[in-house]
Amino acid sequence: MAELGVNIDHVATVRQARRTDEPDPVWAAVEAELGGASCITFHLREDRRHINDRDARLLKQTVATKLNMEMAIAREIVDIACDIVPDQCSLVPERREELTTEGGLDVARYRGELTTAVSRLRAKGIVVSAFIEPVEDQIRASAEVGCGAVELWTGGYAHAKTTAEITARLDDLRRGIELGRSLGLEVHGGHGLTYRNVGPVAALPGFSEFNIGHSIVARALFVGIRAAVREMKDLLERYRPQES
Ligand code: PXP
Repeated sequence: MAELGVNIDHVATVRQARRTDEPDPVWAAVEAELGGASCITFHLREDRRHINDRDARLLKQTVATKLNMEMAIAREIVDIACDIVPDQCSLVPERREELTTEGGLDVARYRGELTTAVSRLRAKGIVVSAFIEPVEDQIRASAEVGCGAVELWTGGYAHAKTTAEITARLDDLRRGIELGRSLGLEVHGGHGLTYRNVGPVAALPGFSEFNIGHSIVARALFVGIRAAVREMKDLLERYRPQES
């Protein structure tokens, strides 16, 4: 079954609303692991709007499963990643004015910068994943710059309104998984997945990890983090593809 990576950024967003010390995203990571998360994901943004350097370092010391650091390829952030050494770095595009990461990284366009960042991270033994749209050029470019994984942007599927659009976006993902795996990449998925829409994506054969944040943290407000994570895990189990 695909691993469930729980993105805990929103917990830090609530803390930062008052610039205080609660709620602590490090506690959230522990609770998510107790609920069955197999990966903890955080995004250290250049503007530190939610997760900060203290969180990143404490998560490295406390996360017992897999630690996945989302990040831009800015030099300062790559330096921090090389110092902290998470298990995995997921390279994402970052714009200051965005509410959350919007769309995928244009790996084909920033090939040069990416090759440098990927090789620095890989030299530290970190698995590098690129968050990209499920598009052939981007998948091929990710393999070429040395990534070991791609995270396919599931936002196109999540935002689709009509049945025809939903089917088309699932087909994009299916083709993306096949191409990625044929190039020797691990294929992950994430963005916009919820308790209501995760089923058809979870049922696609070949995904080895999902990263889910907003929906789990939103549900956790009412049922707690452990229960919210367990419910999402149960859905991944229920919809798991036959052959995995
Ligand atoms: N994967 C990546 C690369 C992301 O940037 C995000 C959002 O931070 C997610 C997954 C999780 O998306 P959501 O919060 O919509 O579940």
